[in-house]
Amino acid sequence: MERITVHGERGPSMVVVGEGALARLPALLDEADLPPAPPVVTDTNVGPLWARETARRLGAPPPLELVPGEENKQWSQAEAICRRLLGLGVHRGGALLAVGGGVLTDTAGFAAAVYQRGIDWAAAPTTLLGMVDASVGGKTGVNLSEGKNLVGVFWAPRLVVADIAVLATLPGRELRAGLAEVIKTAWIGDRELLDLFPTPVSGFGDLPPGAWAGIVARAIRVKASIVTRDEREAGLRQVLNLGHTLGHALEAATGYTRFLHGEAVAWGLLAVAWIARWRGVLSPEAHGRLTSAVGRLGPLPPVDDLGPERIVEHLTVDKKRTERGVPWILPSDDGVLEGQDVSRPEVFRALATISRSGRDGG
Ligand SMILES: NC(=O)c1ccc[n+]([C@@H]2O[C@H](COP(=O)([O-])OP(=O)(O)OC[C@H]3O[C@@H](n4cnc5c(N)ncnc54)[C@H](O)[C@@H]3O)[C@@H](O)[C@H]2O)c1
Ligand SMILES: [Zn+2]
Repeated sequence: MERITVHGERGPSMVVVGEGALARLPALLDEADLPPAPPVVTDTNVGPLWARETARRLGAPPPLELVPGEENKQWSQAEAICRRLLGLGVHRGGALLAVGGGVLTDTAGFAAAVYQRGIDWAAAPTTLLGMVDASVGGKTGVNLSEGKNLVGVFWAPRLVVADIAVLATLPGRELRAGLAEVIKTAWIGDRELLDLFPTPVSGFGDLPPGAWAGIVARAIRVKASIVTRDEREAGLRQVLNLGHTLGHALEAATGYTRFLHGEAVAWGLLAVAWIARWRGVLSPEAHGRLTSAVGRLGPLPPVDDLGPERIVEHLTVDKKRTERGVPWILPSDDGVLEGQDVSRPEVFRALATISRSGRDGG
């Protein structure tokens, strides 16, 4: 088992990564000073696969199973969690355990943050994206119909248990989308990670569980070192938005239905790679390294039928915009460049170039 500590304003979060880590929950909960049988919150996909068994082994009540899906990451689900906690008589000193993907851990973490003004929580992420991204760094929240993650709070889990075995049931498309975030993270802080995953990626069976554990732990280490230095995204943490400026616009322009988040980020990475190359901050070799890693994810849902005007329109409603405009993060040969102003013509050219490469299958 690999262990990583993330330091935040609520104190340390202990992250444990490895195959079979869920079986060690009793000892890990104890070590993290959490109650031994916390109520389990999950969704209806993960419940029968992993969460019911986890709750049973802990001697906890059967899990509350929420409706899965980004469109259900809502107040009402957080409220349902609070009601369940109340029904179970959970008090200030209690805790909850969230078992699921990023939608579930964001919602359950938010409920933990506001229930009786805040109780502790533990996360057992069950998607690759959840492991390397959503469960690390303390952001919790839900969506409004106006936009994603518009309501939330920083409320880090005390314990994160990433059991690699659960990835065996994750659909290949979800796994590949999670790898897009791994590629992003690798570019920011651990380039060798790019050489550790298979070509092309079809699913969990491509690599032994130990290899997945290595990938997950390395990606978490990079994110942990960044959020430990800047939990509230005052500056440094923004580098984690590499590929996300255009990615968010693609998601919004298609009503969050066409792309998985990681797929939109993958397109975003290809776009910023071109912009950085045209500006001379990314060499052709480095550009090739980044784009070939994205290429290994296989075909992405198309972008070539989306009008560039429509996409660019959505760039301007990004939550992270500053007075100056939307800040872009660009990849460079040895890291990333923050707070870059990117012009409309550059975005249009990048969109034309990546949609052409998508159509040509490259
Ligand atoms: N808090 C953060 O810092 C942060 C960072 C990145 C993303 N996020 C959030 O994460 C969310 C996306 O998370 P996601 O990509 O994990 O998607 P998700 O939570 O929607 O899960 C994807 C799908 O896989 C199912 N699933 C989960 N684990 C499974 C398993 N082991 N086997 C079979 N099916 C499984 C889920 O039920 C769901 O249908 C977004 O809402 C995003 O805002 C948060
Ligand atoms: Zn992301």
